[in-house]
Amino acid sequence: MRLPKELLPVIQHEIEKIDRRRLLQATAQITERYQNADFSAPALRTDAHRAAYLAVRLPATYAANAHVFAEIQRLIPDAEISSMLDLGAGPGTALFAAAEIFPALQQATLLDADESWLSLGKLLAGQSPSAAARQVLWLRHDLCSGLSCKTHDLVVLSYALGELPQAAVEAMVHQAWSCAGKFLAIIEPGTKRGFAAVNAVRSAMIAAGAEILAPCPHKDACPMHAVGDWCHFSARLERTSQHRQLKGGVLGYEDEKFSYVVAGRQHFPSFDARIVRHPQKHGGHIQLTLCTSQGSIKLQTITKSNKKDYKLARQSEWGDTWKE
Ligand SMILES: C[S@@+](CC[C@H](N)C(=O)[O-])C[C@H]1O[C@@H](n2cnc3c(N)ncnc32)[C@H](O)[C@@H]1O
Repeated sequence: MRLPKELLPVIQHEIEKIDRRRLLQATAQITERYQNADFSAPALRTDAHRAAYLAVRLPATYAANAHVFAEIQRLIPDAEISSMLDLGAGPGTALFAAAEIFPALQQATLLDADESWLSLGKLLAGQSPSAAARQVLWLRHDLCSGLSCKTHDLVVLSYALGELPQAAVEAMVHQAWSCAGKFLAIIEPGTKRGFAAVNAVRSAMIAAGAEILAPCPHKDACPMHAVGDWCHFSARLERTSQHRQLKGGVLGYEDEKFSYVVAGRQHFPSFDARIVRHPQKHGGHIQLTLCTSQGSIKLQTITKSNKKDYKLARQSEWGDTWKE
């Protein structure tokens, strides 16, 4: 997964404005803040933090957004997403992913508390090849002070819910849902904390009468949560040499772990199960960990003798749906 190439020169320009030592320091700071989930003050406070975010986090959150939107598109191919609202939009991550995946997208409203992000987002969107990315209403707004917005087909909170004070989250989620004409997508880091936030939204949405499109094949209580585990997925992104230097990594890729839920207003065609761990591919058999439509976790072994399923399982990845 890669950011649209048209965005790269603007990102590079922003990064080059910051002295190398400050950029390394800022990368370490934001990594630590996100690892410790320390949001007692805004996590991205300075130009150096924002440049570091563009360099090392934007490619990852973009990959997670693209994965989630592709899943909406795959499950409901005729879902026409012509408008989107992104709450806590940062540099416009969700917009850039949505513009790649939803061809009908025409209009977007992007909202953030931080004026500097709105300015950076405008710069980036100005380079996007997508007409939708240039039809954007950018709004400075603090989500803690409530939200009233016209209906958009898709409402997104990507890596933003976890930064809000706990007391504001429940009302925020209900307001976001009231603005969602078709879908509400919540994406959070694939940590225990991120998943807990996603799972709480899922429960609140089910109680509010929403349908759950993904990732769950059921509306029962999450069977992973019940055993202290957490449901999360992984999106692979390419690392540039700059990304590797800033993060002190050696691999040419990074696997971004994320948790998500997509709630919707219509009744969706159901699927049997979702693969919730990396398939264990052995010589003569493959073991899948499935979350099933009965609301339970099941280990399924597929042997080579079952040619059709074995071929499908060999091609399957963590996060895919599975037909039992
Ligand atoms: C980790 S960034 C995520 C940015 C983007 N959504 C993404 O996925 O890359 C969190 C964003 O939420 C915004 N944010 C945090 N608290 C907010 C609040 N109370 N109201 C509005 N935006 C907020 C921050 O300014 C920041 O842009």
